[in-house]
Amino acid sequence: MKMASEAQRQHAEAMLEHETPVIQLVGVSREYASKSGTVRALADASFTIGSGEWVAITGPSGSGKSTLVNLLGCLDTPTSGKLTIDGEEVHAMSSTELDRFRADKIGFVFQQFHLIPYLSALENVMLAQYFHSMTNATDARAALDRVGLADRADHLPSELSGGEQQRVCIARALINDPPILLADEPTGNLDAANQKIVADILRELHAAGHTIVMVTHDPEMAALAQRKIALSHGKVFCHPVKTVVVNLGR
Ligand SMILES: Nc1ncnc2c1ncn2[C@@H]1O[C@H](COP(=O)(O)OP(=O)(O)OP(=O)(O)O)[C@@H](O)[C@H]1O
Ligand SMILES: [Mg+2]
Repeated sequence: MKMASEAQRQHAEAMLEHETPVIQLVGVSREYASKSGTVRALADASFTIGSGEWVAITGPSGSGKSTLVNLLGCLDTPTSGKLTIDGEEVHAMSSTELDRFRADKIGFVFQQFHLIPYLSALENVMLAQYFHSMTNATDARAALDRVGLADRADHLPSELSGGEQQRVCIARALINDPPILLADEPTGNLDAANQKIVADILRELHAAGHTIVMVTHDPEMAALAQRKIALSHGKVFCHPVKTVVVNLGR
């Protein structure tokens, strides 16, 4: 095991010489203190995610997926190791710096939507602008239009279907144009028809150059990503990047 993680670390460092990764972990661990001792939720993780990549994070319950997503989303900091996001060393940042950094760099899409129930779809999107800088209703409407919800802008979350609520969340995640989109089970609460709509939006965003990191239990969703990062007992197993098949014949 020690050799495998050393190889991962060397790979992560070698990658750095060849391209500029948008996310880079070198020897990142996250431990929690508990009554029964220390829990190593993420153990010595080293990998990179390139700009514009679509990566699926998979693994059984308790394997460390949320721990990893919380670190990548700057909601938490590692116990040890180096975490660099968009060229900034976030492991060394204060919580105030992390708040600012998160608002600029990360868009979140959660399984449980987390919309404010007494605000309209438009106002929910504008709230994300407010945390960032200035609100602009025209931009917020354009973001809703981008996910096909221009005609639902004035609806409350309770007046929207589950799929529509998730599309409002995607509009909210996109409004500040962050380079990274972090999605935690984005289709976990959706039926097949809405799953397809959300999958199509994610596909479009990926085609438009967004970096997408998505936790999913759903093999169909995971298959949309270019690469899988599998977790098992806090250890990371990166699958190779899918090779591009170039057909030279007719
Ligand atoms: N705040 C905490 N204090 C102590 N242990 C924790 C804490 N948060 C998570 N853990 C432990 O760390 C491990 C990884 O948890 P994590 O929430 O990252 O798993 P997960 O892969 O997201 O699981 P699920 O699929 O069930 O959401 C688990 O063993 C969990 O019990
Ligand atoms: Mg989790």
